[in-house]
Amino acid sequence: MGMSDVDGIWGGIADTAARSLTDLFTAEPDRLSRFVIDEGGIRFDFSKTHLDADIVGRFATLAEAMGLAQKRDDLFSGKRINVTEDRAVEHSAERGQGAPESVARARAFHARMRALIDAIEADALGPIRHVLHVGIGGSALGPDLLIDALGREADRYDVAVVSNVDGAALDEVFKRFDPTATLLVVASKTFTTTETMLNAASALAWLEQGGVEDPYGRVIALTASPEKAVEWGVDETRILPFAESVGGRYSLWSSIGFPAALALGWDAFEELLEGAAAMDRHFRLTPIERNAPAIAAFVDLYYAAIRGAETRGVFAYDERLRLLPSYLQQLEMESNGKQVTADGQSIHRPTAPITWGGVGTDAQHAVFQLLHQGTHLVPVEFIAAIEPGHVLDEGHHRQLLINAFAQGAALMAGKASEDPARAYPGNRPSTTILLDRVDPTRLGALLAFYEHRVFVNGVLLGLNSYDQFGVELGKAIAKSIENEGTDRFDPSTRALIERAFG
Ligand code: F6P
Repeated sequence: MGMSDVDGIWGGIADTAARSLTDLFTAEPDRLSRFVIDEGGIRFDFSKTHLDADIVGRFATLAEAMGLAQKRDDLFSGKRINVTEDRAVEHSAERGQGAPESVARARAFHARMRALIDAIEADALGPIRHVLHVGIGGSALGPDLLIDALGREADRYDVAVVSNVDGAALDEVFKRFDPTATLLVVASKTFTTTETMLNAASALAWLEQGGVEDPYGRVIALTASPEKAVEWGVDETRILPFAESVGGRYSLWSSIGFPAALALGWDAFEELLEGAAAMDRHFRLTPIERNAPAIAAFVDLYYAAIRGAETRGVFAYDERLRLLPSYLQQLEMESNGKQVTADGQSIHRPTAPITWGGVGTDAQHAVFQLLHQGTHLVPVEFIAAIEPGHVLDEGHHRQLLINAFAQGAALMAGKASEDPARAYPGNRPSTTILLDRVDPTRLGALLAFYEHRVFVNGVLLGLNSYDQFGVELGKAIAKSIENEGTDRFDPSTRALIERAFG
């Protein structure tokens, strides 16, 4: 099938009648059974979106034309689908789903990680109470989310994740932690990222100044470039490698998850992997019209590429998931914020929308005005859990959930009023993701769901979700300002540098 056929399918989707959400519920009495998917202790409710049987059928045809099933097999069998970097994409091998040799390698790396955790627990590196994890992007967001979501009751170790090169971030931790009881974890796939290496060097100096006799003896490196960690001074026995084929923003399942495994315990980490593996199986084996990541991607594409939505709003109605929007920003925008296909052709339709969001109910009192009455189309996603994460009066959790459900209902129904300022247009789409509870298994499944959703979006847009060349130019310019001065820059940049540094 050629590009013009694919364009024809997109055109067919664009031409479908835009029926209102309330009309869709009337026209499709079986809408709930069609658009609600219960999988792995999570309810995915897509019924308040404009997808209908016809649109899903057309996206399924597009998926076929774009070779989704074959590409999914290629993903799970370790083919080099990251074509621009000539690499396989093997985060699912970390949870036992992938080419046998990749799964075996991941298991060996996990065994090494577990042995080191056992040694730390047995005080082999000294009496550790504090863990300072330095890393950025995918080397920080995943572990930070896991610990914040699942570690609120955990008292095994006090973990701080520091990513920003702004010294204020490290300084805050230095004030709180005792250097003689601190383990320094340096997480970097490449082990060259400027911010991380500078933070690591400052943290090492702090350990030394704090009276730690052998500061390097307190360093653990999490990396796909072990030779660079050795060069930096980390002892080989304290390097936890992972495969080059595990992308940074997909790496929390690998040794990048070390601080989470340490803080939460190994059993919890294994449950996380098992939850993700169950979602892998769902994604691989379920027909497309009941496949949660695929349907979610159809929703994304329908609004972004067809109806012109420039953003999508993600609101966690659960404090434990407050870091989810930032985690998803990297996962979705770094993966699919692209303008060319995998073979370098321009893409002439919008690709990933801007992911943004916050926490409910706070966001209701800040940004929801625009969602209800603004002029932008913003598909909204609510994420909540049936079980609370606290022991306070159940009224709190009831209020939280009722608010989440009320917002979705209000966005859809709207409200007429003779006073235009008080009228709500309604017909505004939302998806609700309702977890039975926030535990390692369900969180693993949820994060794997997002990964596969990104994959389906990428395949249907024809792009490579696994490179990130867009981040390189700014890094290169920062380096050249540092090393070569300012002469070749524009007047504005030169003047700013002059003003800051004299
Ligand atoms: O600059 C972007 C990026 O490469 C991300 O993709 C990655 O997660 C982050 O930087 C950190 O990279 P590293 O783990 O190699 O330090």
